[in-house]
Amino acid sequence: MIRKVGSNFFLETKNNYYIFKLLPNGYLAHLYYGNKYDENYKQKCNLNIRRTGNTVEYSQEFPYSLENIPLECSSYGKGDIREPLIVIRNHDGSNTSDFVFDSYQIADEKEKLETLPSSYNADGQLIVNLTDRYYNLKLQLFYSVFYESDVIVRSCKFINTSDKDVKIEKFNSSLIDIYDKTFTITSFFGNWGNEMNKHQIKLSAGKYVISSYTGTSSNRNNPFFMLSDDDTTETNGQCYGFNLVYSGNHYNSIETTHLQRTRIVQGINSENFEFEIAPEETFETPEAAITFSNTGFNGISKNMHHFVNNHIIRGNFKNSIRPVLLNSWEAYYFFINEEKLVSLAEKSKKIGIELFVMDDGWFGRRKNDQSSLGDWYVNWDKFPNSLEGLCSRINDLSLQFGIWVEPEMVSVDSDLYRCHPDWSMEIRGKHHSEGRNQRILDIINPEVSNYILSSLRRVLSSCNISYVKWDFNRIFSDMYSPYLQNRQKETAHRYYISLYKIMDTLVKEFPHILFEGCAGGGNRFDLAILCYFPQIWASDKTDALDRLRIQNGYSYGYPLSSYTCHVSICPNHLTRRTLPLKTRFDVACFGNLGYELNLNLLDEYELEEVRKQIEFYKKHRQLIQFGEFEREDYENGLKWSIIKDEQKIELIYHQDRQTTEIKVNGETYE
Ligand code: DGJ
Repeated sequence: MIRKVGSNFFLETKNNYYIFKLLPNGYLAHLYYGNKYDENYKQKCNLNIRRTGNTVEYSQEFPYSLENIPLECSSYGKGDIREPLIVIRNHDGSNTSDFVFDSYQIADEKEKLETLPSSYNADGQLIVNLTDRYYNLKLQLFYSVFYESDVIVRSCKFINTSDKDVKIEKFNSSLIDIYDKTFTITSFFGNWGNEMNKHQIKLSAGKYVISSYTGTSSNRNNPFFMLSDDDTTETNGQCYGFNLVYSGNHYNSIETTHLQRTRIVQGINSENFEFEIAPEETFETPEAAITFSNTGFNGISKNMHHFVNNHIIRGNFKNSIRPVLLNSWEAYYFFINEEKLVSLAEKSKKIGIELFVMDDGWFGRRKNDQSSLGDWYVNWDKFPNSLEGLCSRINDLSLQFGIWVEPEMVSVDSDLYRCHPDWSMEIRGKHHSEGRNQRILDIINPEVSNYILSSLRRVLSSCNISYVKWDFNRIFSDMYSPYLQNRQKETAHRYYISLYKIMDTLVKEFPHILFEGCAGGGNRFDLAILCYFPQIWASDKTDALDRLRIQNGYSYGYPLSSYTCHVSICPNHLTRRTLPLKTRFDVACFGNLGYELNLNLLDEYELEEVRKQIEFYKKHRQLIQFGEFEREDYENGLKWSIIKDEQKIELIYHQDRQTTEIKVNGETYE
């Protein structure tokens, strides 16, 4: 699957080749990424280095310009003026780097990243070691092959082997130059309650950037995107898919160069980023996942879904069916107490719900969004028998019990903030711009992350908790880590190194708990979160027609088992739209199903309808959550289908009538 033939490196997956070549000057030239059965692939591998005027020749021995060569790795200073992989500020103040080939290794196993989450169970890994010609610095390029998924994963590591401090100013995870070709870019943008809007643009010159600067992978621009031919459809045509295993500020740039080639880089956003690396220290980038399909966008989805289900999601819930839940948020918001919840749980049990989730409002003195985050002890007025009492009453109904937390945050009106104002990420003595009346904890400080760990350990072991919804409801502002002091440009990235450590510890200590990620919906919907939490709340928008568009967006890059979808009350709390219960179910059915409404507001006919819906979902959920998903090109709305073991389920949305239809093996389900 990985081999070196002459000076060429071959990475092979089920349908594709990724090929690059070692050039005489020690640089790596990208030759091919595409279908391995393409009859023209050898011809496409020909490296015709063009010589153009007004460029810089690399050296006398190698009198070509790096700017004209499709590369695998590049930096500033030696003639390539396109977007670089890495920018180092050397000890003498220069930012010229000249990383050339030193050696390589091919391993059967893939190395785990030390500081960041990574994909696993690869079918081999290639490590290419580069050394800077003049400064004693090393750069490693990692390529992992996921044969069945048709995915290549790239990442890099910088090692300071010199005896001087240096600074990393920019460090991407992957850089590819693709043929003599330009592309149509498909990316997914949005905002709160309006995630994953598909956007397409044809790029024939210049640079297009898909990035985030919210401190999260963000609902503004998800890190997943695709590049395709102009005529690629859902079912036909060539297409590349890209994603990043990272939850922080990301940067993806697609650059159409002077020779009508396309350079793609993916990585950490270098805005307000700089890392000081002392001698012997290292820095590793997040992983970038890349795939190719010649069967249209569906081919990309198939590859990415397989990759996420088999090489990103792990633990007890990998490829295991997810429970149907009822969540208290849209039923009661903050106004919960033991009696209300138990009565809701009793009704839930009757209609077939398996997991009862208590959302926000159960802790400290929480009665609205203005207080108590950080005070992770039960509110005795609402729950006089503590979590234990509530949980055992829920369990007595043979329902699992789940809970909501937002551990990375602190309210100014909280005991935690009163005791430790210096634990909050803010510039002391300066006005702080607020988001949802809460601030972000400086989890880079080990005391703070230990506090989070110990308070969550206490909550999670206080009773029989089966599920945790982990929320994150604001973006960063006035970004400042009191702990890091004069290394503030490391804050955004170090935040995630610490967060991943916390998540890793907890999911290992509580492997039986199903964790669900959430950031006010999809403000942190990414592959890194999915390495710890097998599912994410897709959006606070539960209006079924808006949800169709949102779920359609997610489906391009993420499997259905990774996003949760709830049936809510009508008129919808956000849009005020009224839609039939059937439409609301049909849409929520294509994902991990839940209900988020006050069942006391439904009459007996509606409750019976819901009972039947849940029965139907349970019968087909293995197919829905883990079958092979496809979209069809359909002028009048949307058509989705899922196939597994000769079973087929379809959802058709007729836009003109605003109605939905579910079919099972061709038969309409009423
Ligand atoms: C935002 C989430 O997306 C909602 O589902 C809910 O959990 C609220 N936060 C609670 O504050």
